[in-house]
Amino acid sequence: MIQDRTQQHARLSCRAVRPARILPGLVEDVQQGLLEPPRSLSPKYFYDERGSQLFDAICDTPEYYVTRTEDALLLGCAADLIEGLRPAHIIEFGSGASRKTRHLFDQCATAGNTAVYWPFDVCEEMLLHSGRHLLHRYDWLQVNALVGDYLAGLRHLPRPGGQCLYLFLGGTIGNFLPEEALAFLREVRSGMGPGDRLLLGADRVKAPEILHAAYNDRAGITAEFNLNLLQVLNRELEADFDPDAFRHEAIYNLDASRIEMYLVSRRDQAVALARLDKVLKLESGERILTEISRKFTPGSLTDLLTAAGFAVERHFQPDNGFFSLMLAAPAE
Ligand code: AVJ
Repeated sequence: MIQDRTQQHARLSCRAVRPARILPGLVEDVQQGLLEPPRSLSPKYFYDERGSQLFDAICDTPEYYVTRTEDALLLGCAADLIEGLRPAHIIEFGSGASRKTRHLFDQCATAGNTAVYWPFDVCEEMLLHSGRHLLHRYDWLQVNALVGDYLAGLRHLPRPGGQCLYLFLGGTIGNFLPEEALAFLREVRSGMGPGDRLLLGADRVKAPEILHAAYNDRAGITAEFNLNLLQVLNRELEADFDPDAFRHEAIYNLDASRIEMYLVSRRDQAVALARLDKVLKLESGERILTEISRKFTPGSLTDLLTAAGFAVERHFQPDNGFFSLMLAAPAE
């Protein structure tokens, strides 16, 4: 029993990845983005404990097809991927609870491919929690959790020997502006060896009604998720946002092929930001951009990967074309 525990612990490690550059924190982001119009905030601040729970709940709404679609795709292509690559290491950016990734581990088990898993995320507790889950489920798996912000650069990411399969799933690439997405993918590319691969998940352009519904679920969970950002600000900045004084808005911008999510002020109001010693004045109807979620075509996604120095090797998509998983190799 005791020996069992010791082995379990040895199979799970956790270390911090030192940032390669200093990123602005919430205070700077608020000063830069929120205090002057056009007002915006980074979607990365959604994911406190409550926000992460609400995101999970979004994934269970009938309208939000994204997670379900990607999960089914991964299940369908896991054998192909694992048999074809036999990766020694699987490194995942923004691993969260590592739920979808299990399809790959199931396939590793079947194929006798004992990969090491490197989940990379900001929350140590979540990493340890899901890491323990995985050890329990896969008695052969080694989990080396990495704590940090992947946007702060990848220069200090451990570079294990052997074939690496990098994962960036969920369609999170769509949260970045085109130039940010390109910079991030280039950074991933620069650390890759010739035998390494990147599996990138991205949401697709589709009928605007379907996209609109996915970000305006009838149960109002996406609205709650969006409004929770105000609670994050209240806590972190000692602010006094009244969530009832705002409403959720998500629209599909056809020209930019992206969902835009806003918090709209329901009235003229002044919000005190005690930690900044500032007052935020908002007019009725004024909007704060809280998220963009870009939607891709196979062509636009291929172009992005190509510009970042990749060659697309495989493209996995469902019959309805709702989501894409592209397997990319570093181009010469
Ligand atoms: C987790 C970033 C992929 O953009 O669809 C879901 C987040 N926002 N509903 C997305 C989200 C509103 C989601 N990503």
